[in-house]
Amino acid sequence: MISHFRTDLVIISAFIIYITAVESIHEADKIANLPGQPKVNFHQYAGFITIDEKQDRAFFYYFVEAETDPASKPLVLWLNGGPGCSSVGAGAFCEHGPFKPSGNVLIKNDYSWNKEANVLYLESPAGVGFSYSANKSFYQFVNDEMTAQDNLIFLENWFDKFPEFKNRDFYITGESYGGHYVPQLANLIIQSKAKLNLKGIAIGNPLLEFNTDFNSRAEFLWSHGLISDATYDQFTKVCNYSQFRRQYDNGNLTLGCSRVFKQVLGELGKFVDTYDVTLDVCLSSAYMQSEVLNQLKDKPKIDVCVEDETIVYLNRIDVQKALHTRLVGVNQWTICSEVLHYDMQNLEVPTIGILGSLVKSGIRVLVYSGDQDSVIPLTGTRTLVNGLAKELGLNTTVPYSPWFEGRQVAGWTQAYGNFLSYATIRGASHEAPLSQPERSLALFDSFVNGKQLPQMNGTMEERNPLSHSLKPNNHHVEEEQVLKVITVGESSPGRCRGRGVFREKDTKANLVETEGKLLLLACVDNKEAHGNYAEKDYAKEVWYLDFGCSNHMSGNRRLFSKLNETFREIVKFANNSSTNVMGK
Ligand SMILES: *[C@@H]1O[C@H](CO)[C@@H](O)[C@H](O)[C@H]1NC(C)=O
Ligand SMILES: *[C@@H]1O[C@H](CO)[C@@H](O)[C@H](O)[C@H]1NC(C)=O
Ligand SMILES: *[C@@H]1O[C@H](CO)[C@@H](O)[C@H](O)[C@H]1NC(C)=O
Ligand SMILES: *[C@@H]1O[C@H](CO)[C@@H](O)[C@H](O)[C@H]1NC(C)=O
Ligand SMILES: *[C@@H]1O[C@H](CO)[C@@H](O)[C@H](O)[C@H]1NC(C)=O
Ligand SMILES: *[C@@H]1O[C@H](CO)[C@@H](O)[C@H](O)[C@H]1NC(C)=O
Ligand SMILES: *[C@@H]1O[C@H](CO)[C@@H](O)[C@H](O)[C@H]1NC(C)=O
Ligand SMILES: *[C@@H]1O[C@H](CO)[C@@H](O)[C@H](O)[C@H]1NC(C)=O
Repeated sequence: MISHFRTDLVIISAFIIYITAVESIHEADKIANLPGQPKVNFHQYAGFITIDEKQDRAFFYYFVEAETDPASKPLVLWLNGGPGCSSVGAGAFCEHGPFKPSGNVLIKNDYSWNKEANVLYLESPAGVGFSYSANKSFYQFVNDEMTAQDNLIFLENWFDKFPEFKNRDFYITGESYGGHYVPQLANLIIQSKAKLNLKGIAIGNPLLEFNTDFNSRAEFLWSHGLISDATYDQFTKVCNYSQFRRQYDNGNLTLGCSRVFKQVLGELGKFVDTYDVTLDVCLSSAYMQSEVLNQLKDKPKIDVCVEDETIVYLNRIDVQKALHTRLVGVNQWTICSEVLHYDMQNLEVPTIGILGSLVKSGIRVLVYSGDQDSVIPLTGTRTLVNGLAKELGLNTTVPYSPWFEGRQVAGWTQAYGNFLSYATIRGASHEAPLSQPERSLALFDSFVNGKQLPQMNGTMEERNPLSHSLKPNNHHVEEEQVLKVITVGESSPGRCRGRGVFREKDTKANLVETEGKLLLLACVDNKEAHGNYAEKDYAKEVWYLDFGCSNHMSGNRRLFSKLNETFREIVKFANNSSTNVMGK
């Protein structure tokens, strides 16, 4: 009863907003403020879009405009998998939306994907999250084809509401079972000749081919020390995971498979997150409290309980009101549907071939893997993408190599032809942005902006000719620290005048901060470096390098003059790599 009353209120107030705001048809969906959110400068919208009027089937969406310059940034649709899990709950509030729930408030996510794009989170199919079908028979059987069709109808109706986005560069992204939803929707858009400016798709830890994906689990679990040699042996020779899963879904699990699986589960234990074998699990709040009391540990950087907090947050009446939503036919919002009967046979339908036809149509395809996920491990995905490239006769355009973010290896990548690429995200889970938000944003940035992933070429030796020959005095500098040269511009002696590196009083102003480890001191002829790093805390070790600021030489000059040419190499390198090494 209470919920009906509330519903009427929402509709009435939405109607009033609608008739008073004539300038835009989506004004009624604009979110004034989410409970507990910090102040932001971008618009957010949420509401229902009708899919089938007669059957009263509607999808719930949450749309965040880009933080800056939304009119020139692309539009990105995000779809979580399951099948049956919520893109608003998981994608927006746990992974890469602008806020993450924490207690009663929302915390700003510094690595939100709306830094690079306008992002549309969709709960699909009906039965997921707030999306509903008033005719509940719909839930009895839903498959990939129905989902893709409803998703396309959603897009058409959503664009009617947001016409200014209709011609925008459009990308479809998602993860996990999104390996079905995303390419299938992209394919349907092309076939239906919908007038959308579809540029590319990106899918993380996607289900692309049942046997290859699922059977790569055994080796992943074994190589990460989660199962023993003996169990690995059984898990490959007696019953593999695809076989187990098939039997389980068909309800004819054999004794042999059941034994092997019990053995696997016994060794895995209950306290490891198979979606990220290195991440801690969310413990019950009582347990967490005793942990805190016992150890007074710092709050972990990654909130492994963010999913629980999201469930609490999205079930708040005030939050639902602010999101212009309500529960229809269910008693609570759940992260994955408890009403939907999805056709599990669809899991076995391969979608890798659809990626091939998208590539042939000139749609950019990025497949990426959080490399700590044992559920859809990188090894299976990489094999599938490699195989596809071979099948399509695509030559490698970027050889398998590490890519960088914030001066550290963020993963490995390979590109094939102009439209297909693969990347791992180092240290990331199945839901990559949850555990590696910064690296995930860097990957997303490269993807939507059509840039190659930041690379460092060559070996350490090649990159840093000084690593052995120059170890100033007693300073012990690790080779890898030399990589932390950030921004060093070549300066003419004239430009260095007045703030030469070896003048005592100016020394600090030319230090480049590198995470408390190494400072490179040089003629910084770069406004950004000068301005940004000057006031920072200084590191323990300092290298004094000079490369031609002949007016301001000190005693160090003698040491370095012999290595003049080598300095030049370093400077050139630093110049090149400053754009490459630094993600932002
Ligand atoms: C409800 O949905 C089912 C399955 O989609 C359909 O067969 C049935 O006709 C619908 N009922 C009504 C009253 O529309
Ligand atoms: C493992 O799975 C594949 C794919 O379903 C199957 O062809 C193969 O026979 C299985 N092997 C074993 C030992 O169960
Ligand atoms: C298990 O069930 C499936 C689907 O009903 C059937 O095709 C398969 O032959 C069955 N397998 C065994 C070992 O009975
Ligand atoms: C791939 O490389 C081979 C050998 O260099 C070349 O003959 C072929 O044309 C290339 N294929 C494409 C699609 O570029
Ligand atoms: C590294 O290699 C890639 C491709 O081989 C190239 O595009 C890029 O410019 C290179 N970067 C540097 C710093 O030389
Ligand atoms: C470095 O070499 C250039 C010419 O190659 C010379 O003009 C310059 O004085 C040298 N600098 C030092 C510090 O020796
Ligand atoms: C550094 O890069 C700038 C811009 O790409 C270029 O103009 C300059 O010549 C480079 N300096 C060196 C030392 O390579
Ligand atoms: C810097 O980049 C230029 C052009 O991109 C290249 O020719 C040069 O070899 C690079 N220098 C170093 C030291 O990597």
